[in-house]
Order: sequence, then C-alpha cells, then structure tokens
Amino acid sequence: MSPHADRTRNRAELGHRLRYAARHPGRIAPHVRRTARDLWLRARHRDHVAYYRAVMASDAARDPRAAVGSRNNERWLALGAMQFDYLLRHGLRPDHHMLEIGCGNLRAGWRFIDHLDSGHYYGIDISPDILVHAKRTLVERGLQSKLPHLTMTDDLTLDFLPDEHFHVVHAHSVFSHSPPEVIDECLAHVGRVLRPGGWFDFTFDRTEGREHQVLREDFYYRTETLTALAASHGLEAAFMSDWEELPHGQSKIRVLRPATARGSRARREDVGPAPADGPDAGHTDG
Ligand SMILES: C[S@@+](CC[C@H](N)C(=O)[O-])C[C@H]1O[C@@H](n2cnc3c(N)ncnc32)[C@H](O)[C@@H]1O
Repeated sequence: MSPHADRTRNRAELGHRLRYAARHPGRIAPHVRRTARDLWLRARHRDHVAYYRAVMASDAARDPRAAVGSRNNERWLALGAMQFDYLLRHGLRPDHHMLEIGCGNLRAGWRFIDHLDSGHYYGIDISPDILVHAKRTLVERGLQSKLPHLTMTDDLTLDFLPDEHFHVVHAHSVFSHSPPEVIDECLAHVGRVLRPGGWFDFTFDRTEGREHQVLREDFYYRTETLTALAASHGLEAAFMSDWEELPHGQSKIRVLRPATARGSRARREDVGPAPADGPDAGHTDG
C-alpha cells in the first residue's frame, strides 16, 4: 500500500480489481499466477497458519527479501531501519528484553539484536524457511555473540515463554497478513508475557471502509476493531499517530499492559516511556 493510499478502497471488490488491471496491465499475469498458487495452497492447508507458512515457503524460495515485503536490498535495509529508529525514539534500551513476533529474515531484527544486551532478543515466526534466512542474516552481520533466540511457532499462545518477561513486543507487517482469530489469540496472551507497563507495537493495514481481505494474504482492519479487541483482553490500545508521518503504508497500534494488572507493583519507569510519550491516546482514526 502506498503511504497515502485511499483508506476507503476495498481491494477485494471486482470493480477495484478491474480498474487496477486496466491501469497496470503488466501486473495481470503475475497476479493470476499468485491467485492460482494461493488457491492451490488453500486447498491443501485449511488452517490459516499452515496456509501462510506454505506461502512463505514459496516466496522465500524465490527471494527472501521480497518474502518479507521488500522489493530490493535498499528497501529491505530502509524498512528495517525505520522500525528500529522508531523504537529507539520510543525508549528501547539495551537492557530491555524484546520479543519480535513474525521476525522474518531479521530485516529489523538484526538491528535490535545489535542494540540489545546478549540474549535479550527473542524472535518467533511460523515459517521455518524464513528462519533459515534469519540465521543467514545473523551470520552476515556477525552477531553470533549476541545469542538471540530464534524459534518457530505454530500459534500465538506464547505458551513457551515466561510470565512478565518482555519490556517490548513488536510485530511489523504480521497482522496485515492475519485473520481476526490469529490477532485475537495474540492479544489474549501477549499481556501475560509483557512486564507491567510493557508495550506491544503492531502494524496493520488500515481501512476506513469495509474490512476485507485479499487472497487470505492481506487483511484490512478498522482501527477501532483492533483497539476494541485489545480492550476485551484487558489491554490499553492507542493509535500511533507519529508512525503515520513515516513513509510506510501500514498504521501502528501500541498495546499497553497496565502497570497495575495482575496485582503487580512494578513501576512504569522499569520499562521506559509512558504512553503519553508516543501514542496518540484517544485518537479514533479509521
Ligand atoms: C511481511 S513479513 C515481515 C517480517 C518482519 N516483521 C519484518 O518486518 O521484516 C511477515 C512475517 O510474519 C510471519 N508470520 C505471519 N503470520 C504469523 C503468525 N501468526 N505468527 C508468527 N509469524 C507470522 C511470516 O512468516 C513472515 O516472516
């Protein structure tokens, strides 16, 4: 999505697809091939995670950088830097413990690993194929001594991770590929692994019109759907208006685990900036 795309557009509608094809005739054949491949993969994998894992296997075999959404190395580097610089501005410290959900081939992850103390980065992904490329990135960047954890997962229950461990959880361009039940599962469990006062940032493809999906690869949500989902799990959610200033097509929500949750007495300053430092609380965009 271009940074200033029309947020009311429904990409699943036939009219939109025909107009798009007329404007970009060169993209018709690749789109037809992708549609056929996805139909075949969906027939073989009924479960969304299994299906998307197969999509990633197919995409990563062709080009691991394109598989995580970057058309070339320059964009891959720029998108990683954008994520890293943003979190740094929001107070990510070397002593923080960070979980990256859908870490891909460490486009941003290698920068987080470099910044954080040894063993403080934990990356998870559903795709073994992309995790192989994540290991390659680690080697290319000479970050072995930082001992990051890279783990494949089947779901987002996060059941193998300890309570109240992470200061920061990050998921970039993951919910844009996730149906509601996957997001719900993540929001139902992320509070347990967050430190009191810790935060979870995720990007999403935002629509101000009807929620829809394309090829079950790209999902478009209204902001209030996701903030309400977070609230239903006892989490505070805020739309990050400062992220909108960056040249990126997705929007960002920050979910906070209230410092008083689960009876903990931990102080907010244990985890860095208060929400007022970044999120535009109460902003009802979309
Ligand atoms: C577009 S890529 C982005 C990767 C990385 N976050 C980045 O910015 O470079 C999406 C990644 O999320 C992973 N993914 C998709 N759904 C997931 C899920 N439910 N749980 C964990 N990872 C998931 C994919 O395998 C893929 O590596």
